[in-house]
Amino acid sequence: MAKFPKDFLWGGATAANQYEGAYSEDGKGLSTADVMTNGSHTEARKITWKNPKTGETGYVPMAFGQAMTFPEGAEPAVLDGYYYPSHTATDFYHHYQEDIKLMSEMGFKCFRLSINWARIFPNGDDAEPNEKGLAFYEKVFQECRKYGIEPLVTLSHYETPLNLSVKYNGWTSRKLIDFFVNYAKTVMQRYKGLVKYYLTFNEINMMSLSPYMAAGILTDDAQSKAQGAHNQFVASALTVKAAREIDPEIKVGQMLAYGPVYALTADPKDQLKALKENDATLFYSDVQTGGRYPDWILKKYEAEGIELEDKDSDYELLAQYPADFLSFSCYSSSVTTTHEVKDTTGGNLSLGVKNPYLKTNDWGWTIDPDVLRIALNQLWDRYHKPLWVVENGIGVKDQISEDGKIHDPERISYLQQCIASMHDAINLDGVDLMGYEMWGCIDLVSASTGEMRKRYGFVYVDRDDKGEGSLKRIPKDSFYWYKKVIASDGEDL
Ligand code: BG6
Repeated sequence: MAKFPKDFLWGGATAANQYEGAYSEDGKGLSTADVMTNGSHTEARKITWKNPKTGETGYVPMAFGQAMTFPEGAEPAVLDGYYYPSHTATDFYHHYQEDIKLMSEMGFKCFRLSINWARIFPNGDDAEPNEKGLAFYEKVFQECRKYGIEPLVTLSHYETPLNLSVKYNGWTSRKLIDFFVNYAKTVMQRYKGLVKYYLTFNEINMMSLSPYMAAGILTDDAQSKAQGAHNQFVASALTVKAAREIDPEIKVGQMLAYGPVYALTADPKDQLKALKENDATLFYSDVQTGGRYPDWILKKYEAEGIELEDKDSDYELLAQYPADFLSFSCYSSSVTTTHEVKDTTGGNLSLGVKNPYLKTNDWGWTIDPDVLRIALNQLWDRYHKPLWVVENGIGVKDQISEDGKIHDPERISYLQQCIASMHDAINLDGVDLMGYEMWGCIDLVSASTGEMRKRYGFVYVDRDDKGEGSLKRIPKDSFYWYKKVIASDGEDL
């Protein structure tokens, strides 16, 4: 079997709000994630709020794809009596040396992490950055370099500074373009020579399912989502432009959540429905990576009376500064049909039609390793830009066995098939794939449920859903397996 390319960036991925903790240490401000409670597969996370004028408090459930309406005057806030998993998470802030050493033991070539925007600009609109925040990430990147690990940095991973949400209704405001670009320039200048790869917005298309989580937007209507997306596209183009000026070595990528939709039947109506549902996701990469708004969305906006607050120069910028590469997360596929079905599946992210050929995990996510090859082919054919799988993996309820070890054959088996799928996309289909970052390489908090029990990692972290545990790190069986995979350039699965 042909190997993966020698310079393939094997590694793992994390996000600050799910991993870092230290939510109010060293001058960090609150982010949108810091007011989200824990939940479960069946119970939605809550966004807690306070009305500063009346003193009234309450919460809004984080239901994906369903409108979230905050009462008049409500501002997301931390309240007594609730548990917020991001506040400590799995404490990378105080374990970064130990964790990066573990990554190096596995042979990581790359580590994807996010910079917590509110650690650098606590309110988002501050005139000066927080030096302690800048210094923290500098130490982290130096630690990575010590082991020859390439950092891949997400600038905004579901953690918009909360003040920007309250004061400007998040990304609905064009002001956020300036705040973000100033933040991006600040970190690109500071980490020049240390960081080469940046991603602007994690899963930018999640805007359509959760505008609060993806963009700090407190309203939930089509106009807000369209404007929020547009403002992020412009900010992305300006970040690419700034990167060229700061250091031509820097590459700025897009990050899309992409799990293709399959048609349930050969009925052309089902085929058309699947095509249009995929187009709705690919709209985001058509603009950010492809450089132009697709015709169908302009027709849709016109029909729905959506008008963008834009400038003519926006469209030139989008065409002139598209993303350098397209990265994406890919966990599962979904199914659609125009026919009536009784069998549904899905977890907190979506409720869909059950695929009769596939099983699901405990959270209702379809287990489909072939989807990676399908997604890679579709994205390569559409854009012909380098691709990067920056999230993939499986949530499993790991247990410590009597021998003190964590045996995770289900994870190993799933990842074996995913890697085989990428192998074929590269070696049989000719796809240009830069790397593979397994999600949650060291256990961290689940984004959709706020749980700890939904674990993805190669390394177990002793922490539970109530926030109890020693935070001790224990390598799982998959840790030794992944080490072997990397050492053999993906040949020894
Ligand atoms: C992606 C997000 O959607 O999926 C991550 O970028 C998230 O932040 C990951 O953690 C897995 O989802 P979950 O809900 O299982 O944590």
